[in-house]
Amino acid sequence: MSARKPYVGGNWKMNLNGQQAVDLASALADGFSAGDQVQASVFPPFPYLEKVGKVFAAKNSPIQLGAQNFYHQPNGAYTGEVSLDMLKDVGASVMLVGHSERRHVLGETDTLINDKVLAALEAGLEVILCIGEKIEQREADKTDHINTGQLGYGLAGVSDAQMARVTIAYEPVWAIGTGKTATSQDAQNTHKVIRQALGFLYNDDIANAVRIQYGGSCKPSNAQELLAQTDIDGGLIGGAALKPEDFLAILQAAADNAPVPA
Ligand code: PGA
Repeated sequence: MSARKPYVGGNWKMNLNGQQAVDLASALADGFSAGDQVQASVFPPFPYLEKVGKVFAAKNSPIQLGAQNFYHQPNGAYTGEVSLDMLKDVGASVMLVGHSERRHVLGETDTLINDKVLAALEAGLEVILCIGEKIEQREADKTDHINTGQLGYGLAGVSDAQMARVTIAYEPVWAIGTGKTATSQDAQNTHKVIRQALGFLYNDDIANAVRIQYGGSCKPSNAQELLAQTDIDGGLIGGAALKPEDFLAILQAAADNAPVPA
């Protein structure tokens, strides 16, 4: 347990239709009341951002609206892309950057990821920077090498002050959507290394303040044990974020692990 406020994000990926997105948002807004103890955000597909934002606003929910992707240029001839101003306009306040599906399915490079991190922070938004090793990298004993590398590239040029708006999501690629979860001890070990790397890149105060989420088949049955680890400060949830009862149970597990107010 730490003094860091737990943070749980729900990445809806390319799922749901408009009505399902509204129904899910509505159930989450009704069921989540621990906003003082836990930070929560969801990342709906672009076409549903505004609808979901309206549900949260109408129900006065503390759940933040996030975007799964964006392009870092302000405007112009970038067919198919969406700018930060457009996303702010529909109420998004947090950006997911470097998700493994964008790195490995859509081919995003560390350079592009860094451009995006810098642009989102420059625009005053919050960022969740995702990092994580593939199975062959893990088997070759490269887990720490890959994660600290992606961390350093992703954060290049990010100031100490901007780090207050950055969360790291450690998502072992082999655990995403596969049902395979890192053991809580393996995840804790990697989170600890990531925190040490933040200390090296910045300083101990920043390393101790940054939340590091775990992602990869996190579900109600394993959330409690993962979130109880010293350096695991929340989760980035895919599959289980689509079921209100599951996501709410993970939010509850995070609240159970929140620091007790002094
Ligand atoms: P998962 O996805 O929970 O379905 O494994 C996590 C993620 O991709 O953020």
